[in-house]
Amino acid sequence: MPVLPNLNIVPFISVENMMDLVLSIGVETFLKELSTYIEADFRRWETFDKVPRIASHSREGVIELMPTSDGTLYGFKYVNGHPKNTRSGRQTVTAFGVLSDVDSGYPLLFSEMTILTALRTAATSAVAAKYLAPENADCMAIIGNGAQSEFQAIAFKALVGVRKLRLYDIDPHATERCAHNLQGLGFDIRACASSEEAVEGAHIITTATADKQNATILTDNMVGPGVHINAVGGDCPGKTELHRDILLRSDIFVEYPQQTRIEGEIQQMPADHPVTELWQVIAGLAVGRRSKDQVTLFDSVGFATEDFSALRYVRDQLAATGLYENLDLLADPDEPRDLFGMLLRRQALREQLASR
Ligand SMILES: NC(=O)c1ccc[n+]([C@@H]2O[C@H](COP(=O)([O-])OP(=O)(O)OC[C@H]3O[C@@H](n4cnc5c(N)ncnc54)[C@H](O)[C@@H]3O)[C@@H](O)[C@H]2O)c1
Repeated sequence: MPVLPNLNIVPFISVENMMDLVLSIGVETFLKELSTYIEADFRRWETFDKVPRIASHSREGVIELMPTSDGTLYGFKYVNGHPKNTRSGRQTVTAFGVLSDVDSGYPLLFSEMTILTALRTAATSAVAAKYLAPENADCMAIIGNGAQSEFQAIAFKALVGVRKLRLYDIDPHATERCAHNLQGLGFDIRACASSEEAVEGAHIITTATADKQNATILTDNMVGPGVHINAVGGDCPGKTELHRDILLRSDIFVEYPQQTRIEGEIQQMPADHPVTELWQVIAGLAVGRRSKDQVTLFDSVGFATEDFSALRYVRDQLAATGLYENLDLLADPDEPRDLFGMLLRRQALREQLASR
């Protein structure tokens, strides 16, 4: 059901309105509700058009387009990844996206997606952990305390029950900021001096570092039996976070193998290295965690359906909240084929106004 009856006016969610939307719903509730949309869309995985995202790489980063469709709605996200940006006061990741009506091809929603990406990434990670993390996991290490980190922490609290956080970043100011922002939200937080200290006693390890190289954030000896790894930061060719030996003894779960084999941790492995698709676990077609000692790895890279779910969720909130602007995005001549005539009528109006 369209939010607005007039298809020529496109609702636009600005950064300000997105913040107000998230705050009016509450961050935890937003993440919980969003996760139900993400899970529902994973369950109907086979109805989606799927393609690895279209990436344009440069020396300093990447710009990507992430399209998908379920036959009724079409969505895409534009997103960049530029680790050097934070040095000049900019975000590593920024994004915006569109949801459209497949029947007419008309856009139904245009939205900021920098905040929404952090929320959908965290919600997807937490959904995966619900199926893969050890029972009663309540302690999580977060290595890389940048823009994604607080969202990850809150999603894991809301959906998995994480209460203890062990934070580490090569930049102590990042850890300080993350710990400060999460104060009063019900966490027991420890800022750690090394990643080794952070992973000690953690049931879940989240890696969310940004570096345009094959880094080794975790070595094999840092991962004990039964741990669940939520590897978020390795999401581009030549950009990984885990030592290969960890992959050899983990059960690996991925979003869309065709994309993850190019961009995820498994780019380090042969093309036929066994992986399980997360949607199959969610749909009950494959087993997630099988045993107490099993090391599970969610090799997250972010897939188009998650953005589609996020756009669907925020669109469903608009009628009740009114937190959008009407965007004059689509040309709407009185007679559909008279596009040039519309330009001429505008010119006449401008001349009339100028002669007053
Ligand atoms: N999988 C997904 O769906 C998804 C979604 C969004 C972002 N990402 C990726 O997640 C990563 C983090 O994103 P962000 O927006 O938080 O970036 P960010 O630049 O805001 O934060 C990254 C943090 O990692 C820290 N870091 C870098 N190298 C480190 C190391 N060796 N040890 C510990 N800390 C280190 C940096 O100091 C920084 O604080 C990026 O690589 C991004 O591309 C993935």
